[in-house]
Amino acid sequence: MTTILLTGATGYIGSHTWVALRNAGYRVVGFDNFANSSPKVLQRLEGLIGEAPVFEPGDVNDTARVREVIQKHDARAVIHFAAHKAVGESTQKPLEYFRNNLGGLVSVGQAMSDAGVRALVFSSSATVYGSPEKLPITEDSPLFATNPYGLTKLMGEQLLNELERCDPSWKIAYLRYFNPVGAHPSGTIGEDPRGIPNNLMPYVTQVAVGKRAQLSVYGGDYDTPDGTGVRDYIHVMDLAEGHVAAVKHLLERERSLTVNLGTGQGYSVLEVIKAFEAASGRAIAHQIVDRRPGDVASCYADPAAAQTLLGWKAQRGLREMCEDSWRWQSRNPNGFESAA
Ligand code: WQD
Repeated sequence: MTTILLTGATGYIGSHTWVALRNAGYRVVGFDNFANSSPKVLQRLEGLIGEAPVFEPGDVNDTARVREVIQKHDARAVIHFAAHKAVGESTQKPLEYFRNNLGGLVSVGQAMSDAGVRALVFSSSATVYGSPEKLPITEDSPLFATNPYGLTKLMGEQLLNELERCDPSWKIAYLRYFNPVGAHPSGTIGEDPRGIPNNLMPYVTQVAVGKRAQLSVYGGDYDTPDGTGVRDYIHVMDLAEGHVAAVKHLLERERSLTVNLGTGQGYSVLEVIKAFEAASGRAIAHQIVDRRPGDVASCYADPAAAQTLLGWKAQRGLREMCEDSWRWQSRNPNGFESAA
């Protein structure tokens, strides 16, 4: 059974990918320093994967520790999730984002090289497309960063491109996520942001459970059908399954690839609110306010490349995303701090 190392394994996307990899028959070693996640995720995961999760605490900037874990568990590939991911925070702490996201990537790459492992899945983001000119977005669309977080994803891709050019034995999957939402259908793991949620769906679910009074809709005057921002929301389980397909591709086809992981369907903020109200039976109090600096009007993927190269296509629609988000939040009003 092939072992995969996940850095950032107890985070939102990491924990769901852990479940998808086990479902696909891979052995998983989780690695995390809990900088943006809870150790309680491990107890929840045990119930989902049917065994005690194999977990190694550590920081991706500790190269020797990452190498030690790869060698100890004979990991054949690494999925590197561990990174800071808040756009707004990145503008306040650019150097911390460069240190952790770029320094951490270089450290993981060095550890892999030292351990003789060169199959890497890199967690990239649609944010590398900046303000897209053409929609839907294809992988050959122009790339540019509009904030320090986005710059770390763009530069991360560029560093890895150069690594591959210098040493073609590296096989790298660059996965550009659109907007991950939803939760495992069991309702036992899900998105649990610290403090006030930056992203739309966790803010909506917190309004629904009464933790937040009202959702501020950032802008009602965009050039979109109802004036509110349009995004490509993708169910986190679809995203997780996309990672399984990518790992399989790297290990079996031994070729690198860059793909969008999105549905190809854009929804506006008001459409998400309506869908969530239908799924939860809860009214979501909201008010249209000024635009959020840095936001674009519309952003959604052309997902054809992932289907062609990986045989992967998102299966779950907006209704399921909302139902699963609601089940997670309603059963865990305080996230992982809620009683299991
Ligand atoms: C979605 C829509 C907002 C909150 C960001 C990062 C991206 C990725 C996903 C890390 C927009 C509107 C939001 C709120 C609102 N993160 N909104 N009220 O900005 O598309 O993408 O998160 O990988 O890299 O850039 O996601 O969820 O913040 O916003 O009206 O309280 O919801 O204006 O139209 P975004 P988001």
